[in-house]
Parts: sequence; C-alpha cells; structure tokens
Amino acid sequence: MEKLVVKGPTPLKGEVIISGAKNAAVAILPATLLINGICRIENLPNISDVKLYCEILEHLGAKITWHTNNDITIDTRHIDCNADIIEITRKFRASYYLIGSLLGRCGSATVGIPGGCKLGARPIDLHIKGFEALGATTNTTQGNIYATADKLVGTSIYLDIASVGATINIMLASVLAEGTTVIDNAAKEPHIVDVANFLNTMGADIRGAGTDTIKVHGVKELRGGATYSVVPDQIEAGTFMLAAVASRGDLVIKNCIPEHLEPLTAKVVEIGAHVEESGDELHVWCDKRPSKANIKTLPYPGFPTDLQPQMGVVLATADGTSIINESIWESRFQYTAELNKMGANITDQGKSALFQGVPELYGAPVNVTDLRAGAALIIAGVSAKGTTEIYNIEHIDRGYEDIEGKFRKIGANIERVEE
Ligand code: EPU
Repeated sequence: MEKLVVKGPTPLKGEVIISGAKNAAVAILPATLLINGICRIENLPNISDVKLYCEILEHLGAKITWHTNNDITIDTRHIDCNADIIEITRKFRASYYLIGSLLGRCGSATVGIPGGCKLGARPIDLHIKGFEALGATTNTTQGNIYATADKLVGTSIYLDIASVGATINIMLASVLAEGTTVIDNAAKEPHIVDVANFLNTMGADIRGAGTDTIKVHGVKELRGGATYSVVPDQIEAGTFMLAAVASRGDLVIKNCIPEHLEPLTAKVVEIGAHVEESGDELHVWCDKRPSKANIKTLPYPGFPTDLQPQMGVVLATADGTSIINESIWESRFQYTAELNKMGANITDQGKSALFQGVPELYGAPVNVTDLRAGAALIIAGVSAKGTTEIYNIEHIDRGYEDIEGKFRKIGANIERVEE
C-alpha cells in the first residue's frame, strides 16, 4: 500500500501539461470492439482504468501494441465473443460500455455489475432501457448483466435524465444497428463528442453529438485503419486551475480546451482569481483570499460534479460562507469530513454542504474516498500548513496520470511512499 505525503503551504507556479481525458478513453477503448480492423489511439492517459480496459480487450482477443505509454495500436479483427470477462469487469464503473459495444459486435454481452467510486446509487436502468428499445433482451441476476439481441434496430429513445453513460452506451449499441437511432435529451459532455468523433473517424455515421439530439445512422461495418487522438481532460485541467487558486499560485495549463472549462472559469473569476485564455492554454493565478460563492453541479455545460470537491477546497478557505448543491451524486460530500480534519468548517447536509471559510488549513492524515476527493485532498495538502498524509490513493491513480510528478514539477513538496 502506498500513501502520498504532502508538505505545505506552497503557492504552485509554472506549467502543467494536461493528459487525454479519462472519461473519453474509457469509452473509446470498448468502442474499438465495433471495428473489424486496426486503429491507433494517441493521447491516451496513462492511468490504471486505461490499463484495466486494455487487459479486458486483450482477454477478448484484441492485440494491443504499445508505442509509448500514451499511444497504442489495437487490432480487433479476431474477437472471442464468449470470453469470460465477468470478474474483471466488476472492478470499475466504465465496464458498462462493454454491454453496448459487445451487443453491437457479438449480439450478446455478459458483464459483472460495474463497481467504481462509491458516490451513492449508480443505477444503469437508462442504459438497459435503451438496449431493450433497440431490440435486446436483458437480464440482471447474481450480480451479472446479460444482454442478447438477434438484431438491433434503430429507434427513438428519450432519456429521462441526460446521462453520460447511457448516451454513450446507446450510441455504441446503435452504430452497427439497422436504420437510424435518435437519442433525445442526450448528455452533451465533451467526451461524448469525442467518442462520436472517434467512431465517425472509424467509419460510423453519428450526427449531433454535443447537442440534445444525437442521430446514429447504422452502418454495415467500421473499417478502422485510422489514427485518433483523445481530447484533453477537462476535469484534470479544472483540477489544476483550482490548485492554482487554492494555493494562491500562478499556473499555465497547457494542452486544454478553454471552452470546455467555461463553467469553472466563470466561478474562478467570480471569487476574485484571474484567468486568461490563449489558444489551448489557460493562465490562472490568485493573489488574495478568494471570496465566497454558491455552486450547483449540473450536467454539461453546467458546473461539473467532477470538480465539486476541488472547488470545495477553495471555498473551505474563502472569505465568507458558501453553499454547494450537488445534484448528480448523493454521496459526493464524503471528502468534507476529511477537510474538517484539516481545520475546515464544513457542514454536510445531504445534497448540499455549507462551507464557512476559515483563514487556513493545516496538515492531517486523511483518507481518499473517491477519485475526485483524492485530487481535492492533494490540493488541500499543498495549500495547508504542515504535513498531510493521504491514504487510499489507488482511487487517484485510476484517473490522474502521474499526479505527484505533475504537482512536483509546479513546486509541490509531494512524495509517494510505502505505508
Ligand atoms: N442515472 C440513472 N440511471 C441511469 C444512469 C444514470 O438514474 O441509467 C443517474 C445517476 O444516478 C446520476 C445521473 O443520472 O444521478 C447522472 O449519471 P451519469 O450516467 O451521467 O453518470 P455516469 O455515466 O455513471 C459519468 C462519469 C462520472 C461523472 C458523471 C457525471 C464516466 C466513466 N463517469 O458517470 O465520472 O461524475 O458522468 O458527469 O464517464 C469521475 O470521473 O470521477 C466520475 C465519477
């Protein structure tokens, strides 16, 4: 077991380069199963969720060549539709995309009910409704999900909630279906557009990704033969923006798409920090104690739930009392108990939390409860006075490439040590 030891406070300064988006990568990798050919994927984040996905693909018969840690070629010409992937798929959330992609490729899929971060109930009923609307039969028993279809036929599907996972999964299942599938009230996150762009590059016909209505015109096959580069991770970029603000630092964030960060940029400016955009860079700095703000998390283009804990660290030391309303995940305030160990004054009230700003945080031993909580605790450790020991860091490794290396390069005193 490893832990991170952070000594602060350090105003972070310098440049940080953003990796490819985790939530795009974990959908693009299963999407390769729809290709009867070879494709190359660049700018893949070097994170444990990606490695696990590659293991699953290899288990299914894909041949993967690693050119670098971020650049692979995948040959999906010979897939074993009967390979047993139940246990390995239980290990993380995004394995649910194998249902859509294997239904498309093989006409059947059996996966373990996905695990992942404990953020409260994480049903996949909208995914299942979508598959059934396309003609699949599904059955959930003994912790497994079984789906089969003689053929998938395009139809109109209205999502009750603009779910990221359901939008992508239905897209995956409908790419090779007969006819046209229309997904209404689709989610609009940048990684949905990225998955659609990947599939279109490989020969699919998907239109409207990034809007409320996505139309997938089924094609006979995806031929592959192309190279695709994963979109920069807007959540990693936002994490470093908030690290700059919380540490009262000055960072240039490179290889990001500033437009994807607009909901965060607006809040960062509102609380008194500074943001300058230039091409694919963001310059963020903060020279005084931020002011309070109220936040409500919403689907894109609202304030992202995946940046809520990192914003919580900033508001913990803001001038005044702030309220955060969390509208996506019921258990996303677990990190507040850890921040309180560091001197914060946060009252978790279920779907909202009250942040009474304190002048400063101090180091303490803390536990990571989920991926984004982990990033938040690193930011808190860098900004706090004294030593912070961060435990259960495997959550962080799932989604951030070389997190301590990137923080160290901008001045943080952070080390990974054996417990
Ligand atoms: N929901 C349902 N039924 C469904 C699907 C979702 O009720 O069938 C509900 C959920 O319970 C939640 C809301 O709809 O309240 C939104 O869930 P969504 O499906 O959009 O989330 P997800 O696809 O499971 C992805 C990201 C999460 C991110 C959310 C919201 C991946 C692998 N995960 O999850 O990322 O928080 O979208 O943006 O893409 C993270 O990266 O730390 C992370 C948790």
